[in-house]
Amino acid sequence: MAEIRNIVILTGAGISQESGLPTFRTMANGEMGWDTGLTVHPLEDVATPEAFARNPELVHKFYDERRAKLDAVAPNEAHRALARLDAEWPGELLLVTQNVDDLHERAGSKRLIQMHGELASGWCLRCNERFGWTGPMGERAGCPNCGTTGMVRPDIVWFGEMPYEMERIDEALRNCDLFVSIGTSGAVYPAAGFVQTARYCGAATLEMNLEPSLGSIYFDESRTGPASELVPEWVEQILAAT
Ligand code: OAD
Repeated sequence: MAEIRNIVILTGAGISQESGLPTFRTMANGEMGWDTGLTVHPLEDVATPEAFARNPELVHKFYDERRAKLDAVAPNEAHRALARLDAEWPGELLLVTQNVDDLHERAGSKRLIQMHGELASGWCLRCNERFGWTGPMGERAGCPNCGTTGMVRPDIVWFGEMPYEMERIDEALRNCDLFVSIGTSGAVYPAAGFVQTARYCGAATLEMNLEPSLGSIYFDESRTGPASELVPEWVEQILAAT
């Protein structure tokens, strides 16, 4: 641990599960989908550019519901421990989250990339501006920048789109001494491949998840259990060793 200076941490839906936000596998009937009460939509029916072009009302409803839930949840011990590490870690640190909730930010993490976008953000397809968004968006939303209505979409990276800040993430992965993955199933690329890049470039690798992820063979160490217990323990451990 004494040789560790640069850390990259990847988080997924599992870190927010204990705050009351469901992971993707448990969203509907154990399937990866969204239950509107009337029907279950496969996640890809509401999280692709094609789905948005076909049925913008449905896609907006999905994200409006998820955005509304943010008010009812709060960061948990795992988010808070990572914010503490960010504040106290003397070396380089980058927290990359696949989550579109705002719980890392609300916990106080600063060196943060939301690679799949944010529920609390909108993106105008007319003027290409991105801006903070609270409340429902819906089909008739007006752009606060150019004033056009009906051209604002959720600022979310959908399947088939390029995640944000990949160059910065790739550079951090190549330069890190330790790569840590928390609460992610390892099913969705490119995030699922980060461990292999870091490992190839010489980093030690640690996974903390409720169960071994799909990529667990790539990790030097796998700790299984709830993030709210494992993450504060690990943060305590790594800060004590510096
Ligand atoms: P998943 O829902 O695929 O996986 C969540 C992981 O967290 C699972 O392996 C769970 O076992 C684990 N888990 C659940 N509760 C936990 C807890 N309390 N503590 C620790 N681990 C826990 O979510 P992601 O891997 O984040 O993409 O999914 C990746 C991407 O797929 C998402 O960002 C989203 C989705 O489709 C887009 O929307 C583009």
